[in-house]
Amino acid sequence: MYEQTLYVWRSTKGETRLKRALILVNAYSKLISAINQPIRLKEEFDKLGVEVDIKKNSIDTAMIIEGEAVSFVEDYDFVIYLDKDKYTSSLLEKAGIRLFNRHEAIRVCDDKMDTHIRLAGHGISMPDTIGGLLCYNEEASIDEAMTRIELIEEKLGYPCIIKECYGSLGAKVYCADNREELLTRMEKVKLKSHLFQKMISSSRGRDVRVIVIGGKAICGMQRISKTDFRSNIELGGVAEPIELSKPFIEISEKVAHILDLDYCGIDILYGENGEPVVCEVNSNAFFGAMESVSGVNVAAKYAEYIYETIY
Ligand SMILES: Nc1ncnc2c1ncn2[C@@H]1O[C@H](COP(=O)(O)OP(=O)(O)O)[C@@H](O)[C@H]1O
Ligand SMILES: [Mg+2]
Repeated sequence: MYEQTLYVWRSTKGETRLKRALILVNAYSKLISAINQPIRLKEEFDKLGVEVDIKKNSIDTAMIIEGEAVSFVEDYDFVIYLDKDKYTSSLLEKAGIRLFNRHEAIRVCDDKMDTHIRLAGHGISMPDTIGGLLCYNEEASIDEAMTRIELIEEKLGYPCIIKECYGSLGAKVYCADNREELLTRMEKVKLKSHLFQKMISSSRGRDVRVIVIGGKAICGMQRISKTDFRSNIELGGVAEPIELSKPFIEISEKVAHILDLDYCGIDILYGENGEPVVCEVNSNAFFGAMESVSGVNVAAKYAEYIYETIY
């Protein structure tokens, strides 16, 4: 039994040990937002008396030895997993480590089609969506998928959205205005996981990003682009403060609950009457822009939530 004080756990026998956490980040990412995220979290954990190490996720984080999941992450009370590598997250959990977010939540959010499938049937409004067909063969003609093209035209119409399932910052989200553009895009994405989606025209270039921590929608911002149908800040969208209305709060909290997310940033489109339509869920949403626009200390809220959960 350990009794806790600032920075240390103290056992009934008088032994003490530090409260320690590890933040694992992606080994390759050089994005400023990705570099700042763990530093801000560490700053906030410092104030709570938790010593935090930041390490790059590496091939020596975990592996399978003699049929057992073995983690080389030792002496940490929990791991904040700011990567999306599903193999390491799965192995770490199997080895008994509590991850924030959990492996399955990150895995489902990383794949946009999987996210929509998981949310289906829970009364969550989202754009009509069709999964892309699996194709292994570069030489294959997309004519093989012709019935699917007719379904896209009948159910989604033009303009329609095409997304690669793994992508962020708006980079792998496309729009087709007619069959020719659709076929050109299908040819380009046929070997990757992708989906087709109804374009929510009432939300063109405009959406709301909501941060949910521990089941509570804590802040939001509106993003508007004058030059692109995608509102991502990285593509020129401008963020502004917004007072979240009840329907936006309710849908965000419900989504986070269904996907079992400790932390997330949800992109929400405006339906025809301004109602929320869920676009995508980011398990590893950057919070830098949100902190400046909303004035909310997201890192502190997340650190406090994790602290309450663990200690
Ligand atoms: N179905 C849609 N209808 C209208 N706009 C969309 C739709 N899907 C995506 N968008 C726009 O494209 C942006 C990027 O799409 P999103 O699915 O969030 O991918 P990413 O992970 O790259 O941010 C959204 O923020 C939104 O502005
Ligand atoms: Mg997005």
